Amino acid sequence: MQIQRAMSVVGPGKGLTSRRNLHVIRTVNEMHEWRRHEYRQGGGRTVGFVPTMGALHEGHMTLMKHSKRENGLTVASIFVNPTQFSQGEDLDKYPRQVEADMNLLKKNGVDVLFLPSSEEMYSPNKLHHVEPAAFSKIFEGQARPEFFRGVSTIVTKLFNIVRPDFSYFGQKDISQCILVRKLVEDLNIPTKIRVVSTVRDSDGLALSSRNAYLTAEERPFADILYRSLSVGKKMIESGNGSEISSKDVEAAIRKQLQSESRVSNIEYVSIASHLDMKELESVSSKNGCVISSAVRLGTVRLIDNLLVGKAYYDIVC
Ligand code: PAF
Repeated sequence: MQIQRAMSVVGPGKGLTSRRNLHVIRTVNEMHEWRRHEYRQGGGRTVGFVPTMGALHEGHMTLMKHSKRENGLTVASIFVNPTQFSQGEDLDKYPRQVEADMNLLKKNGVDVLFLPSSEEMYSPNKLHHVEPAAFSKIFEGQARPEFFRGVSTIVTKLFNIVRPDFSYFGQKDISQCILVRKLVEDLNIPTKIRVVSTVRDSDGLALSSRNAYLTAEERPFADILYRSLSVGKKMIESGNGSEISSKDVEAAIRKQLQSESRVSNIEYVSIASHLDMKELESVSSKNGCVISSAVRLGTVRLIDNLLVGKAYYDIVC
């Protein structure tokens, strides 16, 4: 009853908020109310959670599908989190298409959408954030200093609000996946992290909301990142388990990236441990690693990664 009242506050007559079979919840209190209601209903349905910043694509839908397969209920969130953008980064330009996203969620049978405002998520009087100890100093963190603190903070808040049994993240942001796994371990947050393999276009380009920024002229060359990382992966695998120098692998990847004149900047190439993203001096297919890179194609920032060796079996579903 209370739930119905809560829903009707934001319900029919308010445009975006009413969707048959997709409950849209906009406030923290309503979400807590919904969780209490579900709990009182009994039945032991687990809750799977897919946090997003919207502009949903097939990659997100794969996460939703995994969640639906493994859980009785699936909750998605859409919140373009300002604290994970650096100054001058593309916060204002970030694609927003809530109506289309809601239709996609509904079509894919997602049960609940958490769609809070910035004011709902960040009080002007806030005192705390969550700061990962070492991550901000390594590769993605160096390139975007606010990123890991912003992600750790918002993800902790979302976990506290939604209280999911399982949470789904895409392998495409592998450093984010590893960060979040450490976050729930370090802070004893009771959700299990599932990392879902990257979804790619037919040429290998990893699906991403940012691909929308590529011009028609640039798009045919955007597979350069995947092709270059694949060169590194093959090099490690051809060692048949023996150790090779990470520097040599990195040099081969950089050479391949530089062969494409549209690559305007190589932010980093990293050969790191799949456990904590620390850089490795040598690598083998036996011990496994994560090869990752961020480049600019024209002005568009592309990131991607490949998992090598046993890392595959450790972290991806
Ligand atoms: O991967 C994303 O879309 C965001 O970093 C996340 C996890 C939703 C936090 O804002």
